[in-house]
Amino acid sequence: MTASNQLALPASLIAPDVLEGLSAEPKFLPPKLFYDAEGSSLFEQITETREYYPTRTERGILEQNAPEIVEAAGSNLTLVELGAGSASKTRVLISALLRRQLRLEFHPVDVSPTALKQAMASLNGDFPRLHVRPIVADYSHQLPELNDVPGRKLVLFIGSTIGNFEPEEARTFLKRLRTSLRSGDALLLGLDMVKDAHILRNAYNDAAGMTARFNKNLLARINRELGADFDLDEFQHVAFWNRRKSRIEMHLESRVDQVVCVPDLDRSFHFFFGERIHTENSYKFTVSSIKSLLRQTGLKLERSWTDPKEWFSVALARV
Ligand code: AVJ
Repeated sequence: MTASNQLALPASLIAPDVLEGLSAEPKFLPPKLFYDAEGSSLFEQITETREYYPTRTERGILEQNAPEIVEAAGSNLTLVELGAGSASKTRVLISALLRRQLRLEFHPVDVSPTALKQAMASLNGDFPRLHVRPIVADYSHQLPELNDVPGRKLVLFIGSTIGNFEPEEARTFLKRLRTSLRSGDALLLGLDMVKDAHILRNAYNDAAGMTARFNKNLLARINRELGADFDLDEFQHVAFWNRRKSRIEMHLESRVDQVVCVPDLDRSFHFFFGERIHTENSYKFTVSSIKSLLRQTGLKLERSWTDPKEWFSVALARV
């Protein structure tokens, strides 16, 4: 199958997830639905706000430590990235790897064909010795056939994307990932750390309202792809720190009692005044929760790197 075949996915794939989530009690929508073309672009804009520290903090850690990270990972590596998005932070590691090897294969895996196309175009232009083989896949449901990827692998799962999984899901996911890798392969995980509540809260309530737009894009997307009539002004962005569960929660709260029609589902959904759709959990970690997560999944924590404020952590685990 050619790359362009893999990049053609029908939009109606969101219908089952939307039906399940909006029929549930309480209502929810899975965060992977954020990342259509519009949502991916809104996320990029969030990463540029003053309040949203994770992306620039992780990039700083990678920039400071790239030679050390790739050396610790091993030699003659094939790079795989789960949830690559625009793969902008990955450039730092690609440069470091290309200083140590003549040729590098890169398999970015993402649900968004748009993000992959963009990543591929700009990476191909900038790194002639890099060979990009994009894979459109919902890796949260089904890991791509990593066994077919030749050579020793370095798998990137950065950006604290693992923070979107429930703790149980994260364990299952890492166990499954471990069995699809060979002994000696490495996993580089990026994890956002627990910190002052107001720093966390502000990162998901930026003053420019980008996170609110990102959250509401879910409803706009359902309007676009399933013909729904969500009025975005009738829902409010809500994000708060749940300390007990060590996570940021995002919700969309109905400002009125209302009914929304979703023609492509042949359904309508009732919202009470103040009723919420739970759209995202973003778990935050501690040194000890990272250790116990890896221990429970049979991965060996080899090294980790952080920033001066210890706001974010990049961990290298070995299969
Ligand atoms: C891409 C999942 C790491 O949880 O911080 C940003 C997504 N949501 N602002 C995160 C997100 C709201 C982000 N991750």
